[in-house]
Amino acid sequence: MNTATLDPNRQFEHDALATPTSEEESRQMFVKSLKYHLATRVAPGNKLAYEARVLPEAEKAGRAPGSYHDVRALMADDGYYRLWGAMQRSSQEMMWRSVQVSVERQIDELQAKAKGNTAPLGSVTLDPDMPIPGYISAVDIHCMPGNYHGEFREDDLSNGAVYDRAVWFYAMGRMGPLNDDMGRSMSDHIKAHYPGLKPKRVLDMGCGVGHSTLPYVDAFPEAEIYGVDLGAPMIRYAHARAEAMGKKVHYSQQNAEKTNFPDGHFDLIVSHILVHETSNKAIRNIMKEAYRLLAPGGVVLHLETPPYRAMTDFEACMLDWDTRNNNEPFWGGSHLIQPEEMAELAGFGAEQGFERTIPSAFDQAEKQRTKIFQAGDFGGGGSWYIWGAEKEKA
Ligand SMILES: C[S@@+](CC[C@H](N)C(=O)[O-])C[C@H]1O[C@@H](n2cnc3c(N)ncnc32)[C@H](O)[C@@H]1O
Repeated sequence: MNTATLDPNRQFEHDALATPTSEEESRQMFVKSLKYHLATRVAPGNKLAYEARVLPEAEKAGRAPGSYHDVRALMADDGYYRLWGAMQRSSQEMMWRSVQVSVERQIDELQAKAKGNTAPLGSVTLDPDMPIPGYISAVDIHCMPGNYHGEFREDDLSNGAVYDRAVWFYAMGRMGPLNDDMGRSMSDHIKAHYPGLKPKRVLDMGCGVGHSTLPYVDAFPEAEIYGVDLGAPMIRYAHARAEAMGKKVHYSQQNAEKTNFPDGHFDLIVSHILVHETSNKAIRNIMKEAYRLLAPGGVVLHLETPPYRAMTDFEACMLDWDTRNNNEPFWGGSHLIQPEEMAELAGFGAEQGFERTIPSAFDQAEKQRTKIFQAGDFGGGGSWYIWGAEKEKA
């Protein structure tokens, strides 16, 4: 597929995607416009409210903030911030609803198509007995009804279908027509930064529906590409989507904390916005598992939004909104991770840990970024934060 020919203003309609009626689409496009309006016109007003009203009043009262937690406590009483927050939350709930209706209407057809593929390029392996860890099952992450693992019928893939379409609205189209900006940005970086790395096998941990996995098929045509995720509906749909797009990937339902792959099986392990959805303990386990799974000379890289230490307390407070208001309980903790510490704990050695900022691949074509990361603005920053560790050569 020549991605350069895709319309940057529309999600690419592959054969596994739930396509909306015109009524459904107009509701969905309204949500996209609302999210864009909130990110670009309403959210910036919070800075004005903070600088012109909240901060001077706090200083006058002897309550000058010393951390992003203090900023949050001050902003919590501000009417503008509260109104913006209420609209932000509503836009999120509207987004899921607007897509669910469309998926529900077509679910029989989507499942039939997925099952009808008798000569797949790749594979899908499910594990119905796999326990779902509490950090995923406790709440509907980012308010997605049923979460990643919820199943409402036999062989269900509906939440994968919902996720595929909704992410395009969540990112306001700014992760590209294939929602693949994270995988493209990361694989571009890996090829440039590690020219000698010719991976035989690549693993995408927490692959979801494969938005970020498929770019590795193109980036490393000689490699076998694998994806693991906890959610059966995500894995089933990821397989259907990859096949619909003619990409060979081996997907399996597994916990990235402890997989069934042999030691040293991979030369490259990646994840994209997985870390912020796992507990502090789980990310330590995931790093230990990455150490076990990597061959000597291999590398693990995780992509996220930037750590709070790289921003002002006000900016961190804005980015941290999701922790308390968008059912993302581990969001805040994940933005405090120190890569060297993680690398040491996992066995790589502290000096093998790294963090970098990389450019967004999609941004190079689309110059309409805010350059600021804030709540509900995934894909808006024009760059990504990555961290990870390199396993020493034998
Ligand atoms: C925000 S989604 C990102 C999906 C995908 N990486 C992408 O770039 O579109 C996070 C995914 O991580 C999965 N996940 C969370 N914890 C996991 C774990 N311990 N093992 C495997 N998958 C996990 C979730 O089920 C979810 O599909």
